[in-house]
Amino acid sequence: MQKEMYAEAGEFYDVVSDEQWRLRKGAFQQVLSGLSDFEGAVLDIGSGTGHGVVAAAEILPGADIFAVEPSPTMRTALLSRIMQTGDLRKRVTVVPSTCESIELPQSLRAVLFLGCIGFMDDEARHNFWPKLATRMSPGSLILFDVMMISSPQYVEKMHLAEIPVGYNTYHVWIEGVPEGELFEKWLLTYQMMKGDEIILERKVDFLWRTLSLEDVAREAEPHGFSFEPLTETLIPSGVLRKIAS
Ligand SMILES: C[S@@+](CC[C@H](N)C(=O)[O-])C[C@H]1O[C@@H](n2cnc3c(N)ncnc32)[C@H](O)[C@@H]1O
Repeated sequence: MQKEMYAEAGEFYDVVSDEQWRLRKGAFQQVLSGLSDFEGAVLDIGSGTGHGVVAAAEILPGADIFAVEPSPTMRTALLSRIMQTGDLRKRVTVVPSTCESIELPQSLRAVLFLGCIGFMDDEARHNFWPKLATRMSPGSLILFDVMMISSPQYVEKMHLAEIPVGYNTYHVWIEGVPEGELFEKWLLTYQMMKGDEIILERKVDFLWRTLSLEDVAREAEPHGFSFEPLTETLIPSGVLRKIAS
């Protein structure tokens, strides 16, 4: 994992992710709803503040959930959501680790791999598909997403969010610059505004391994997964479904 970028900007994460989750949660839950009779746990990789945990818990009330989250900042928000939401504290196990170093649950019905595939290095990602495949039965699935570009390029600064909270408004800008042939450097500016006054500003950047949905599909298919595209929002998502081996 790269440096702990969420230490600086974690407090803004839900402001940025809120709209994407509102747009996509229904489609994610629709796909997950087909797994209610399956055995095995749900593994949420890079749980962040817990949107995926809640979405899975609502639609699969019988499933145990493992939430893998290496960032202490994000885990603070995650645990807060778990403690305040229904029976989640009985069903969700928080794993304070990266996906490269976790011991996988014996059996998995679903894996959520949202907002973090580009943080894994190539070798770790290549090795991950066969490891997951051994824990998954036919029909079980991986829900994943990629970012809006599939190869490094200049992305002009754009205003990603403007969200009023109380008397303040949160603003988020994003800009991208290529970093070599495989990576994009994303630069984010977060501001909390009171009228015209900036009362808090944070700037962070991170490197993302650019991949398209199809790149991921090609990589996972030899390990017994078939691909279906799912949503076409700013952050495209897809499903890798385990087929009989
Ligand atoms: C953009 S957030 C996505 C959060 C959540 N999945 C969502 O969709 O709202 C990316 C998350 O992945 C985590 N992360 C980064 N590298 C990781 C790794 N190697 N293994 C597991 N999680 C990782 C970060 O700490 C962060 O919480």
